[in-house]
Amino acid sequence: MNVQSDTDSYKENNQVNITKFHSDVLEGLQKKQKKLSSKYFYDKTGDRLFQEIMAMPEYYLTKCELDIFKNKKEDLTAFIASENEPFDLIELGAGDAMKSTYLLKYLVENNKDFTYMPIDISGNILSVLKEKLSTEIPKLEVVSLEGDYFEMLDKAASMSSRKKVVLFLGSNIGNMNSDEAENFCLELNKNLHSGDIVLIGFDLKKNPHTILNAYNDETGITAAFNLNLLHRINRELNADFEVENFQHYQTYDPLSGACRSYLVSLKNQDVTIENEVISFKENELIDMEVSQKFSEKEINKLAEKSGFEILGEIKDSKKWYVDSVWKVI
Ligand code: AVJ
Repeated sequence: MNVQSDTDSYKENNQVNITKFHSDVLEGLQKKQKKLSSKYFYDKTGDRLFQEIMAMPEYYLTKCELDIFKNKKEDLTAFIASENEPFDLIELGAGDAMKSTYLLKYLVENNKDFTYMPIDISGNILSVLKEKLSTEIPKLEVVSLEGDYFEMLDKAASMSSRKKVVLFLGSNIGNMNSDEAENFCLELNKNLHSGDIVLIGFDLKKNPHTILNAYNDETGITAAFNLNLLHRINRELNADFEVENFQHYQTYDPLSGACRSYLVSLKNQDVTIENEVISFKENELIDMEVSQKFSEKEINKLAEKSGFEILGEIKDSKKWYVDSVWKVI
């Protein structure tokens, strides 16, 4: 089945996205506490910088989840494909599916009856992924879904009535505040049926130094990752940020579990975005990103509040990170 959007709706989407980017940026910078959304970090340079972050020795998250997907495949499989019921394996924000590929291989080798459905907003990334999977796991059935997570979940539901297993990896849930995370899980629950499964990656609370170091590298890659959003706004929204007049500042609060990044304005300055002028005072902050860390209790509460029963959890060997497996009640 052809599930790629046609060219017209692609253009339309793109147009909508550019306008939304513009209005989100303006709205955020016109707030009393200025704010930008970290979901806009990932342009071409942002993707590259995030690759560099994942390769940093301090950034343990990806290594932990990779450890799970390389070394705990049997446990994962027992949770998501225990009976031999056919299912659709949906991955939200699949990207290059680096981690899930290990599991996909294992499931195919063990003759599990499933279709892999990667969802991503980047059609380009999906076609690269499809190509990669067709050579690495030729027997794997792949149906790519390009677009918004919940619209594509809806589409997946309309394509087959098989049991759904949804992967939401990478601690991406950490970039939501607690209301957003709860609403996201509720929405996920609404889009699924009783017995369907979700597997969510959470970064656990741990020694606060370990956490802060992962986001406060001395090489300045994380700083560049944050500052890149200003470059992107300059380029795409016709703005004139003098990026060298902003400085990255990172915090971790072990009580709340919030690891936060800010940009500090180094002087009084005006920035123009299209026709709008935004004034910054010296030392004024832009709230850039939260990367929330969780206790097991907090994970349990989130599952319960949003209509899931916890089936189990799979941790890496250091016990720093967990893939929590939930079933729709
Ligand atoms: C991709 C959202 C999981 O929050 O750890 C890495 C992004 N920000 N370093 C995270 C990020 C700064 C990352 N996630």
